[in-house]
Amino acid sequence: MSPFLLTRTLPEDATDAALRADVLHGLTRTPKTLPPKWFYDARGSELFEEITTLPEYYPTRAEREILHARAPEIAAATGARTLIELGSGSSEKTRLLLESAPDLTSYVPVDVSESALSGAAEGLLADHPGIDVHAIVADFTGGLSLPGTPGPRLVAFLGGTIGNLLPAERAAFLASVRGLLAPGDGLLLGTDLVKEESVLVRAYDDAAGVTAAFNKNVLTVMNRELGADFPPDAFDHVALWDPENEWIEMRLRARSRLTVKIPELDLVVHFDAGEEVRTEVSAKFRQDRVRSELSAARMELTHWWTDGADRFALSLAKAV
Ligand code: AVJ
Repeated sequence: MSPFLLTRTLPEDATDAALRADVLHGLTRTPKTLPPKWFYDARGSELFEEITTLPEYYPTRAEREILHARAPEIAAATGARTLIELGSGSSEKTRLLLESAPDLTSYVPVDVSESALSGAAEGLLADHPGIDVHAIVADFTGGLSLPGTPGPRLVAFLGGTIGNLLPAERAAFLASVRGLLAPGDGLLLGTDLVKEESVLVRAYDDAAGVTAAFNKNVLTVMNRELGADFPPDAFDHVALWDPENEWIEMRLRARSRLTVKIPELDLVVHFDAGEEVRTEVSAKFRQDRVRSELSAARMELTHWWTDGADRFALSLAKAV
């Protein structure tokens, strides 16, 4: 039996305080915004899993295709002994890497969901009994302190989740990742790529309405956690492409004039008819932008792998 350790760096009530602060800040400014991380309660995580199986939502399949085809190459290029995965969730994709990386001795999954971490670690240890798993319950946008696992290290941030960060947040995030690395260590980064607008918009506005339900789930989260009275059916799901910023935006649009009470925040929020709340940006990338943002954080792009249809990219960067 190899050890399984779990470290909690999030206080029990941290989530609560962060949600309050985000909702208070986001719904009292113009235009209104909410950060996408609040989609992911149990129901939201389930809906996201369903999204990844939709015909229109290609990123998960495209990234898996790259990992399937390239895992041995990726493993060889990094030579990592410790794999740190940010936002590891079910660790499903990681298994493809672990299978191809004989030098790996330690796996450090980092996620805000303790249940996801222990569930994933259990399955993983059963298949890879030789690997040390040190799971960390943390918000990786915060700044992490890592266990003293052997180098070289590889940080993996998959799924295209970096696209949820705004450019300034991305720069801060990449700088904090670089802070976890020694020169020569690596970052494996998944990014969705710029492509035809209709393909992008459909991926965020599927015919079955699963993404619409996922988007509206944030209202249910606020109703439950903050005692709010958002009527989810009073909002329409909106997905649009912003060609200047090269990102998809999801919004919730009030169908009519409406007032919502949020008792836990002592707040009343007014919506005009047609008023929108931005709930997510999902940035799409080109290789040049990935290279320059990495370079600004003292990392050098060394490998760029895409799926057969050039929809999604996995980048490998080296800390310099
Ligand atoms: C999990 C952040 C990669 O931005 O594509 C899916 C979330 N939002 N459909 C994405 C999401 C709407 C997803 N990420």
